[in-house]
Amino acid sequence: MIEVDPDLSGPLELRVAEFHLRPLDSSDARDMLTHLGDSRVVEFMDLDPLSDIEDAHQIIDWAAGQRALGAGVRWAIRDSSGSFVGTCGFNQLIVERGRRSEVAYDLGHAWWGRGVMSKILPELVDFALRRLELHRIEAMVTPGNLRSCRLLERHGFSLEGELRGYSFWKGRYWNQLVYARVASDEPPR
Ligand SMILES: CC(C)(COP(=O)(O)OP(=O)(O)OC[C@H]1O[C@@H](n2cnc3c(N)ncnc32)[C@H](O)[C@@H]1OP(=O)(O)O)[C@@H](O)C(=O)NCCC(=O)NCCS
Repeated sequence: MIEVDPDLSGPLELRVAEFHLRPLDSSDARDMLTHLGDSRVVEFMDLDPLSDIEDAHQIIDWAAGQRALGAGVRWAIRDSSGSFVGTCGFNQLIVERGRRSEVAYDLGHAWWGRGVMSKILPELVDFALRRLELHRIEAMVTPGNLRSCRLLERHGFSLEGELRGYSFWKGRYWNQLVYARVASDEPPR
């Protein structure tokens, strides 16, 4: 079992520009249901649109469990008025025989194309490289998710390849594009 990283057990609240990031908890369930109930948001994700508050609680409980294990963290993103913007975080955190994790993010549809993740992603990279002292940050992207690909490429992630038949959800197998940035990469201009 992965040793709990002390950096994941604290309050872990982040402020990024006008956004406030706080680890998901049960008070986010109603907003998560609306957010992940939107078929546009989950189109390229491993989820059917949520229709039940229990599904939202399950995701929040899963995220809390990952954090307790030191295996990841998922933040709720809210703007300065407290409106729910989306979520972001790290999954599959490995700290033995390598230091790496997968970055993940999903914004509400109303927030797309406004540069929100372009503000937040550099802070997530900084958190991963400096605070968690990771060496490698990965991102798995479903082919066709061009917004996500563009975002990663603009922020110094390189496409390393396409994993065929890597994941199974929504009743079929999916390829996944692997993007990564390692600590020794030149920061993007
Ligand atoms: C993936 C996702 C986060 C990308 O969101 P996004 O809003 O396109 O990403 P950015 O924050 O980088 O926004 C950049 C776009 O906003 C525009 N923009 C507007 N104002 C901006 C500003 N102040 N600063 C930067 N960009 C700005 C840019 O023109 C840019 O458009 P372009 O990529 O066509 O050049 C979003 O589409 C999403 O949440 N999708 C659903 C969930 C999902 O698929 N998650 C990823 C799983 S791998």
